[in-house]
Amino acid sequence: MSDSKSVKLVDESNGRSSELPLLTGTIGPACIDIAPLYKDTGHFTYDPGFGSTASTKSAITYIDGDQGVLMYRGYPIEQLAEKSSFLEVSYLLLNGELPNKSQFATFENDITHHTMIHESLKRFFEGFHHDAHPMAMLAASVASLSAFYHDDLDVDNAEDRKLAAIRLIAKMPTIAAACYRYSVDWPFRYPRNNLEYVDRFLHMMFEVPSEPLTLSPVAAKALDLLFILHADHEQNASTSTVRLVGSTGANPYASIAAGITALWGPAHGGANEAVLKMLEEIGTPDKVETAVKRAKDKNDNFRLMGFGHRVYKNFDPRAKIIREMCHKVLAELGVNDPLLDVAMKLEEAALKDDYFVERKLYPNVDFYSGIIYKALGIPTEMFTVMFAIARTAGWIAHWIEQHETPGSRIGRPRQLYVGSDKRDYTPMDKR
Ligand code: SDX
Repeated sequence: MSDSKSVKLVDESNGRSSELPLLTGTIGPACIDIAPLYKDTGHFTYDPGFGSTASTKSAITYIDGDQGVLMYRGYPIEQLAEKSSFLEVSYLLLNGELPNKSQFATFENDITHHTMIHESLKRFFEGFHHDAHPMAMLAASVASLSAFYHDDLDVDNAEDRKLAAIRLIAKMPTIAAACYRYSVDWPFRYPRNNLEYVDRFLHMMFEVPSEPLTLSPVAAKALDLLFILHADHEQNASTSTVRLVGSTGANPYASIAAGITALWGPAHGGANEAVLKMLEEIGTPDKVETAVKRAKDKNDNFRLMGFGHRVYKNFDPRAKIIREMCHKVLAELGVNDPLLDVAMKLEEAALKDDYFVERKLYPNVDFYSGIIYKALGIPTEMFTVMFAIARTAGWIAHWIEQHETPGSRIGRPRQLYVGSDKRDYTPMDKR
């Protein structure tokens, strides 16, 4: 990183100016450091969607939206998808380097031996109705973990941070499976230490008391790949939420729970659930044209869920991988889902339509993922929970990076005030 140059900003209305350092990173756009701006000019910057604003320096993930590039710690997502595993990617995101054999064995052993949750946490679920959305149960349960773990809450202690990261990555599948089991009124399943991460999750999800579950290597591989693809994505809304909450010194469980609630929104991680509901609403390929027309109609708030992205103005590289996976996994599982035909017809129609082409709206990570989750037997309401299991690795990596960065300060944006000017209180009988 070098502050090689600067840019000069002059306010011609009053002649005040500011010499702003230009920060350059390893790759990607340089950043104008606007910290001196208010002191020099009395002005704030204004960028409500943060479309042109870097909130932090980070070494974890790099995205080039124009080229459709995504790299975790410099490794292209295509290579990690083909050659790595979710646990290895989690280690990479947390530590910055791929693990050697003994580092991975230690990490996997740590994760395996932190998968259980306190028995009293299981009683929390009894407070929910069975129709509670799993994301509500997940957010509440994860936030409550700080009530059980008091030995890893010193955010300034590196060992505490590492233990909290291990606990979160290890326990998310256990809690997620409990959310599902509670919603179908099945007894919870304890994590099996003899199973690998994804198989252990599938076992906790689907093993019924009356007979042993036959685990599918195809399902496990597909799910592991989806977890890799969803593990991190730079400063997206939920990761930025985790960082903002973390900047106050909040404990890791509270910070990650905030990320879970941010992810739930249909404009973000909730889109995968919304995509499937949209495909079901469209129903058949011959109804696609109408859906595309509605998505373009400004008087209709219907959007093509799973399309568009704040950063990608090209194909989301994850969507490309998941689309290819769809065909392979459904064929290997012998599943024929007519919604895949609807999705492909929708993609074809949108990518030929000027409205989408002009706005550079392409399928994103959420467009096809739900079709695979459905083929694996995962209910629609659990789709965003799946996203949260994977993104926990990225969230906690960013939370740790933030606490390892010297001089980190509480995040406290300013505003452009458009309310009333000063006025005096008037008694009720005078209003
Ligand atoms: C994720 O940030 C991340 O990295 C997120 C994520 C991650 O891994 O963390 O990648 C995961 O959240 C993926 C996005 C999932 N969301 C959806 O699929 C929901 C549908 N998409 C949109 O709502 C929208 O595209 C966003 C929210 C993703 C991006 O919104 P922006 O950048 O604020 O874009 P915008 O709303 O300003 O749209 C620009 C134009 C508008 O039209 P005009 O005003 O120019 O006429 O494109 C239109 C929008 O109306 N538009 C769409 C559309 N998305 C944008 N029109 C129809 N259908 C859509 N899906």
